[in-house]
Amino acid sequence: MRIPTPALSDSESAVTAGARLLQHEHASRKSAERFAAAALETLLNAIDANDAETGAHVRRVANYALIIADELALDERTQRTVERVALFHDIGKIHEALFDIIHDHRELTPAERREILTHPQRGADVLSPLNGFYPELPEGVLAHHERWNGTGYPRQLKGRHIPLSARIVAIADTFDAITFHRRYSRSRSVTIARDIISEGRETLFDPELVDLFVMPPVFARISATAREVSKWTVPVHQRRTGQDETNVPDISFRWRPGRRGARGRPASDSSRQRER
Ligand SMILES: [Fe+2]
Repeated sequence: MRIPTPALSDSESAVTAGARLLQHEHASRKSAERFAAAALETLLNAIDANDAETGAHVRRVANYALIIADELALDERTQRTVERVALFHDIGKIHEALFDIIHDHRELTPAERREILTHPQRGADVLSPLNGFYPELPEGVLAHHERWNGTGYPRQLKGRHIPLSARIVAIADTFDAITFHRRYSRSRSVTIARDIISEGRETLFDPELVDLFVMPPVFARISATAREVSKWTVPVHQRRTGQDETNVPDISFRWRPGRRGARGRPASDSSRQRER
């Protein structure tokens, strides 16, 4: 027997139509976010395929940067920005114009050194089509070699004119450059790296970030992570399993094992909660 459906009033119909429209918009937005995250994953795969050394480096840097972001108790959205800037900060180095220079074992000429300084701009150019999805990404990548006192490049930005993501990545990148063994430089200890970063307080690096970085519990986390990720000489690309991919439209899901918070506790446990 067919049960008659009660007729909807005009206002009820409008509410139902409105709810459907909202549902549709939500689904479309999620789908666009998943697509954008897949585009980032494709770019990360392209880095790995062109230059496994850089693929492993950006992941180590992303791990350190995420610890700093977590300890700053940055909101989730800002943490994801930090993660993306860390993962793609050196994408400009896989540009054809720089690849041979970077991978050459001999000493570089002044002209070649000048050429390498173009990698932040080249990276920002590569990422610029994603501006509509991740407006802070090209800007953060462009600024990752800026220095607190304005002596960096390419624009000699100073202090807080440098995006926060780039200020965090600058410390994480320096820490990895010192502690990870490369063809042209031997690795040095994490405590030497801490001392060098401390010396750059207020000249090269954001003083508040340096103060946070050297705090014993924070530095202990960084050191423990360094022991783990310094074994990564090739990119570790590990999708988390057991989750419904449709609900995780972010790149963390696509490269990072475990839950999002690096220390396994929610960001709200952090001592400080601030938006900078
Ligand atoms: Fe760089």
